[in-house]
Amino acid sequence: MKTQATKITEGKSAVFVVSTKQATKGPGAKEKVPFYNPSMILNRDVSILVAQNLIASSKKSVRLLDGLAASGIRGIRFAHELEGDFHVTINDWNEESYQLIKKNAQIYSSPHITTTKKNLHLLLTEEKFEYIDIDPFGSPVYFFDVVMKSIQHGGIIACTATDTAALCGVYPKACQRRYHAQPLHAPCMKEIGLRILLGSLCREATKYGKGIEPLLCYTTDHYSRLYVKVSRGVGAADTAISRVSAISSKAIDGFYTASQTMVGPLWLGPIQQKQFIQEVRNILFTKQLQTKHDLVKLLDILEEEATAPPFFYSVDEVASTLKCSPPKRKLLFGLLRKNGYTVSRTHCTPAGFKTNAPLATIKSMFMQQK
Ligand SMILES: C[S@@+](CC[C@H](N)C(=O)[O-])C[C@H]1O[C@@H](n2cnc3c(N)ncnc32)[C@H](O)[C@@H]1O
Repeated sequence: MKTQATKITEGKSAVFVVSTKQATKGPGAKEKVPFYNPSMILNRDVSILVAQNLIASSKKSVRLLDGLAASGIRGIRFAHELEGDFHVTINDWNEESYQLIKKNAQIYSSPHITTTKKNLHLLLTEEKFEYIDIDPFGSPVYFFDVVMKSIQHGGIIACTATDTAALCGVYPKACQRRYHAQPLHAPCMKEIGLRILLGSLCREATKYGKGIEPLLCYTTDHYSRLYVKVSRGVGAADTAISRVSAISSKAIDGFYTASQTMVGPLWLGPIQQKQFIQEVRNILFTKQLQTKHDLVKLLDILEEEATAPPFFYSVDEVASTLKCSPPKRKLLFGLLRKNGYTVSRTHCTPAGFKTNAPLATIKSMFMQQK
């Protein structure tokens, strides 16, 4: 190793990482040294829960892949913190990363680990996995095709996207080039970004006669994260692709006044699965995780979202359009429920609410508060 590595602890695991000038927030910049970003601890903690759930529900040994591993922190944590019958492959094509991964793998000398130094595209054409984690710099789209070839029936694809500006419509042309989709720069942009990613992944799946089923998907200020179950079969593929479509911007946000009319293609099906989130939350209480407190809050909202309609309104946007003060959330939620509508929070923003109430009803409720 040319670079000085220091030992840090995440979850129950102590590993060597290369300390950089990286702040504790943000996606982090591409650097020459093996990358370690402490602001991704929650991201890795969720993957521990999801992988544990997969192992617990599987009748045979589960092959896990940390495909773009950098220091190897995620894969090492899998090997050290997961229980049950599994094997983890930790891969990075960068020589310095590979040396650091080997050094970290030696700390636990676990029989569960294989380390490889390959182009992920090659590795995924050579081997099959039940869980594939891709955590790239920027967009994961370059790996969607090979990931779909390698993933086994019933397996889970986990992926991070940090190209938030493209997915949220700050750079619409970048979004069109990568995802062949039109984003929308509006209050709902983060959920739209998630749905663009899912739509893109779904199209890659169906060409191989596979279908996707989103299990747990969320966005933060600097990244989006998907956990998606993949099933083989034309039935699964047909069902999945029937949920992908471009739609009018008016159908997303009745307050949007700009000229753009079409958005997507987007995944229009559910983006959370209630039972899966409940299972993952049960596992959370059995693990030693630094972000437990934040995870409980996140999983609570994701569970609420699981049965809510797609997209959401922003209290601030509605109030400013109608030139009235935003009502207190408790009051608004109470009013909607009293009138027989569903309403839930969204993890995308504290100002958001998801409801099946018609726009006219929402407007009249806001106006009543004037
Ligand atoms: C953002 S870092 C991964 C961070 C890591 N997952 C973590 O949790 O700390 C992305 C890594 O992908 C590796 N990489 C990029 N393209 C690759 C490819 N085609 N095959 C293998 N590794 C690749 C880079 O060397 C880099 O270490």
